[in-house]
Amino acid sequence: MALSPYVPTAFSSLFRFFAFIFLRVIPVRLGKTALPVLYFVTLISSCFVTPPTPAVQNHPTKTEPAKPETETKPLHHERSQSVDVWTTVLFSLPSTSRSIRITHLVVNTLLLFAAVDFVAHPFFDPATDVVFTRVGAVYPDSVKIVVRYPEFNSTESHVKIVWREYKEMAALEEGWRDGPVVKLTEANDWVNTIGLHSLWPSTAYEYRLSSLNRTVLPYPPTPISFRTFPDPRLPTGTHFRFVVSSCVSPNFPYVPFQSRRIKGFDLLAHYLWPMRGKIVPPAMDGSFNPEVSQSSLANLDSTPTPTIASAPSTAVVTLPPPEFLLFLGDFIYADVPFYFGDDKEAYRRLYRRNYQSQSFRKIYEHLPVFHTYDDHEIINNFQGLANDSTPPFPNASDAFKLYNADGNYESTKKDQYYYHFRYGDVAFFVMDTRRYRSNVFDDDVHSRTMLGDQQLSALYDWLGKVNTTATFKFVVSSVPFTSLWGYDAQTDAWPGYADEKAVLLKALHSVPNVIILSGDRHEFAAIEFNGDEDDNGILEFSTSPMSMFYVPFFRTLKKTSDAMVSRVKTEVVSTDDGDEVVNTKYEIPQEKVLRYIASGNYKWSAFEVDTRDLEKPTLKLEVMIDGSAAYHLMIAGKPVKLYSSTALGTLVPQSFNKMFHKIGLRPSKWF
Ligand SMILES: *[C@@H]1O[C@H](CO)[C@@H](O)[C@H](O)[C@H]1NC(C)=O
Ligand SMILES: *[C@@H]1O[C@H](CO)[C@@H](O)[C@H](O)[C@H]1NC(C)=O
Ligand SMILES: *[C@@H]1O[C@H](CO)[C@@H](O)[C@H](O)[C@H]1NC(C)=O
Ligand SMILES: *[C@@H]1O[C@H](CO)[C@@H](O)[C@H](O)[C@H]1NC(C)=O
Ligand SMILES: *[C@@H]1O[C@H](CO)[C@@H](O)[C@H](O)[C@H]1NC(C)=O
Repeated sequence: MALSPYVPTAFSSLFRFFAFIFLRVIPVRLGKTALPVLYFVTLISSCFVTPPTPAVQNHPTKTEPAKPETETKPLHHERSQSVDVWTTVLFSLPSTSRSIRITHLVVNTLLLFAAVDFVAHPFFDPATDVVFTRVGAVYPDSVKIVVRYPEFNSTESHVKIVWREYKEMAALEEGWRDGPVVKLTEANDWVNTIGLHSLWPSTAYEYRLSSLNRTVLPYPPTPISFRTFPDPRLPTGTHFRFVVSSCVSPNFPYVPFQSRRIKGFDLLAHYLWPMRGKIVPPAMDGSFNPEVSQSSLANLDSTPTPTIASAPSTAVVTLPPPEFLLFLGDFIYADVPFYFGDDKEAYRRLYRRNYQSQSFRKIYEHLPVFHTYDDHEIINNFQGLANDSTPPFPNASDAFKLYNADGNYESTKKDQYYYHFRYGDVAFFVMDTRRYRSNVFDDDVHSRTMLGDQQLSALYDWLGKVNTTATFKFVVSSVPFTSLWGYDAQTDAWPGYADEKAVLLKALHSVPNVIILSGDRHEFAAIEFNGDEDDNGILEFSTSPMSMFYVPFFRTLKKTSDAMVSRVKTEVVSTDDGDEVVNTKYEIPQEKVLRYIASGNYKWSAFEVDTRDLEKPTLKLEVMIDGSAAYHLMIAGKPVKLYSSTALGTLVPQSFNKMFHKIGLRPSKWF
């Protein structure tokens, strides 16, 4: 049986197209079966093709000898032939040349290897010996420190935290104090989290790791520095930056020999510390960043609610130091493009893989990272049903807890992944949208819950408290709150839980300066929520991926919601009988897109919060896409009368603390 030589051409082209999509555009799960199948179909079909006419001159016996390849040709002719060669190789066209036919095979085989390398890399490079430490939750008087330090041929070991206050010119060995001892066990994959307590607010510290007898360990090579958060009871405002994003997968879009790279984190490190030749500690890093300040003048955008502040009047803007990264889930892709199973090791391996990445090291060794999870830390579109035995939650949760969640703030309830925290007068609530969500397909819409009763009551409780004790309130959800995204966002995100969303939305509208942060969609969108006439406006910013695919061409975000809210416009109209007040009713969409940016493999949002003038609190958003500023928004918050901020019992006020230090006194020694 002989096939047309164009049959393998067609299969080969299909294979290459799929390989390109899989490695560079979207690593669809289908790829892991489609690619090997197409590869072998191409190979087998090419065996059934009538051997093409000979390519080599010394085969004179064939009936249709090809043009001898060695023939001398004019130069221009040669060039056009070389174009032909490229076309032939690119589209696997039938060729009389044996070397070209071999090239077809080599190209396909390399592509198949690339796909195997991409899919199976965690298996070949399980990162079992990765050593790392990072700062998690930061409080005014303590921090959490996560340590992984494997010790081979043993089942447990101990590492001591040694710390001191950070001073720019401190002698190398001066002033180190013994901190807590971290117990590491093989059973917990050599990772553990510990608290370092009795610290001063707004103060820079540094720590390193040592063995129990105080021998300094080789990692970290230089001490890790951090700064405690300000005392929230101080009557002053704050000025700081933080970054938010979600979704990472190493080396996507795929590049050969870059398997440990997470390019989005490289770009983020460059953005946060553009002048970092050597490591700049957080306390010293309020650096002027000319690139950023100029673009923020050029691209100011606007929104009607909350009201807009004017553009900064000077071109030189001193940015406050970044204080933390909020990572909203899909930190690992347990099931994309391949699900390695639900055993503990399969999940742990993927966390180790990210911590091993030099790209991520640039971030977590210099910036506290607070996490939540989303479905891909568990499995696609996971619904926990408030049952911790729902597979594969147990082992997925084990790995998330060890590597990411234990470093987060303590929840108000034991063993919960939702938590809240404050930075000065700015409050954050981070939801757990996976563990308690009910079945969106079976359960009645009125009884469906995304958060579960206990978490909902914690959220309402928090909302009631921060209403009058915090200036800005950030509500953080791994999945979007908006209903404007179509397709599976309609069931996997908040629209699937419409009743709970409506009630929560009503409560959020009653609180001034609420901002919702979300991720998940691999796109950026800024959404405005409009409530009733007297309600406060709410904005949502959904930002992802940090370093992963985006969907080209296919757009799924509606511009406005079908649901409308009514407004009344009051005008004074002059009539013959004198002035008359006319009320006109009109409608505006409940949800509306302010800005939508779908494309870009590397996205994050950086917020600069400034509440130093409590009468004019502002929030500046800069959205970075593929390393360039893509969108700016200046949000003016409403002034909030802060009730608890003047309460007695504050720690020694910051200014005193600083003053004592200047004159060489150490108040920490007195109390
Ligand atoms: C651990 O033990 C194995 C044999 O049991 C040995 O080959 C290896 O070198 C040991 N590793 C270390 C770090 O001691
Ligand atoms: C300290 O302990 C480590 C092992 O934990 C050991 O290798 C080292 O020799 C000890 N150093 C001293 C000075 O005892
Ligand atoms: C979890 O992992 C362990 C070992 O890694 C395995 O024995 C178990 O079957 C896995 N699944 C569950 C649901 O515990
Ligand atoms: C929780 O899930 C497990 C595994 O699916 C199931 O066997 C068990 O019956 C569930 N428990 C409840 C209370 O629904
Ligand atoms: C927040 O405070 C306002 C004004 O005091 C009040 O009307 C509203 O109900 C409060 N909202 C919540 C969720 O406590």
